[in-house]
Amino acid sequence: MSIKTIILAAGQGTRMRSSRPKVLHEIADKALLQHVYETARSLENNQIYIIYGHGGETVKQTLASLDATWIEQKQQLGTGHAVQQAIHYVDDPDTVLILYGDVPLLKAKTLNALLHKVSLTTLALLTVNLDDPTGYGRIVRDKEHAVVKIVEQKDANEAELQITEGNTGILACKGSQLKQWLARLGNNNAQNEYYLTDIIEMAVEDGLTIETCQAGSADEVLGVNNRMQLAQLERVYQAEQAHFLMEKGVTLRDPARIDIRGEFAELGQDIDIDVNVIFEGTNRIGSNVKIGPNCLIKNSTIADGVEVLANSVIEDASVGSGSRIGPFARLRPQTELADHVHIGNFVEIKKSSVASGSKINHLSYIGDSEVGRKVNIGAGTITCNYDGVNKFKTVIGDGAFIGSDTQLVAPVTVGKNATIGAGSTITKDTPDDQLTLSRTKQLSVPTWQRPVKLAEIVPDNSPHSSHPCKSAEIVPDNLLHSQHSCKSEK
Ligand code: UD1
Ligand code: CA
Repeated sequence: MSIKTIILAAGQGTRMRSSRPKVLHEIADKALLQHVYETARSLENNQIYIIYGHGGETVKQTLASLDATWIEQKQQLGTGHAVQQAIHYVDDPDTVLILYGDVPLLKAKTLNALLHKVSLTTLALLTVNLDDPTGYGRIVRDKEHAVVKIVEQKDANEAELQITEGNTGILACKGSQLKQWLARLGNNNAQNEYYLTDIIEMAVEDGLTIETCQAGSADEVLGVNNRMQLAQLERVYQAEQAHFLMEKGVTLRDPARIDIRGEFAELGQDIDIDVNVIFEGTNRIGSNVKIGPNCLIKNSTIADGVEVLANSVIEDASVGSGSRIGPFARLRPQTELADHVHIGNFVEIKKSSVASGSKINHLSYIGDSEVGRKVNIGAGTITCNYDGVNKFKTVIGDGAFIGSDTQLVAPVTVGKNATIGAGSTITKDTPDDQLTLSRTKQLSVPTWQRPVKLAEIVPDNSPHSSHPCKSAEIVPDNLLHSQHSCKSEK
């Protein structure tokens, strides 16, 4: 069976109150139209046509990579008119499937069930039972329960308005027949539009049976018309993602507090995810990984047995097995951590590799670096990798021990098993196995006095009285300023 899918996406979407076309609004970081496209793409032997409207150039440009034919509907004269724009691409034996760019959560399974019902004697229609069918076209059935037509809300009589079976708009039929029916459409109705829904009555007149089916859940056929519905469908989508993860053997402390905006290329077993974790892009997560609350993980690989502690951000990075990250760590793009690496709180790593067993536990910035095995980097160590224009590399040999508060001014290499004294500014390569330090000598000034507030010196009502340093309310308080003349009075 050759399928031609026509996706209607020409509507303005006024109720979104947005400068962005409606179908470009996103669920899980993906345009509504792209969700629909991907579902359609998953059907076999399918060619896709997208009807876009006035101002829809942005849609076409944004989603230019889709394998689809773009067709402009210059004036929006109704859903029937929209389908007409693509009809010359349809061959008689084709099965035509009609979808909507703003109905994003439809499942391929539902579409396959619908497509199976199409033949030259049947038209397949997806309907939905609703508590409140307001706004929907109503499915009118005869005494034998056979569908006879669809009546739009605005054209419906009192009895028809009571019908709770609504039209989703999604249908499938044979190309040869669709061509004939579209040619016969008129716009003599309440909205003066060419209604696609009118083909149902024509099909019945031509002796066809209307086969209806329903989606797995009503959420699948919900459309987005405003921001409330967008938020609602985002939640439905995320609930499905959470369900999928749990089915795969992932523990979620709260399935309502996880967001997956992308996919998992790999997913191990016994992953434990605490609340408010966001996954973006394509991630690979190994087995027995534990992720603490409030983490953001994007386009990254996390190997088996890794523990990511609260409030860590990991982006375009890879973390080797048994490593421990965070809390409050940031791994920026091109960070590659080998096995059993420890990255602690307030540590930022960018475009660097860290070999196995190394530890960077507190308050450090490591950028453009190559860190060897079993290196210990003390608190507050900074690689000075940037001169304002160029970036330079820092290499730290295996077994090196970098004392706290060291600045490594790149380009620079620290030798194997070298020790750097705390507080050093390292500007030249340091030898293997030796202690290197650069530090000004410590000195004490016995004559120095701690500064005091004026009020304490001059117990007077007037703040400016006889003190020689008239302007200052507080006497300058560092060592340099202790040479200030006002201090000479002591
Ligand atoms: C349509 C159906 C209604 C169904 C409802 C479900 C018709 C006549 N009515 O009504 O039975 O219950 O959907 O939501 O089909 N579009 C175009 N070009 C146009 C007109 C519409 O591309 O000229 C697109 C819109 O972007 C939208 C979709 O078609 O995505 C539906 O159009 P809309 O005007 O919203 O139809 P409804 O009145 O909701
Ligand atoms: Ca609509």
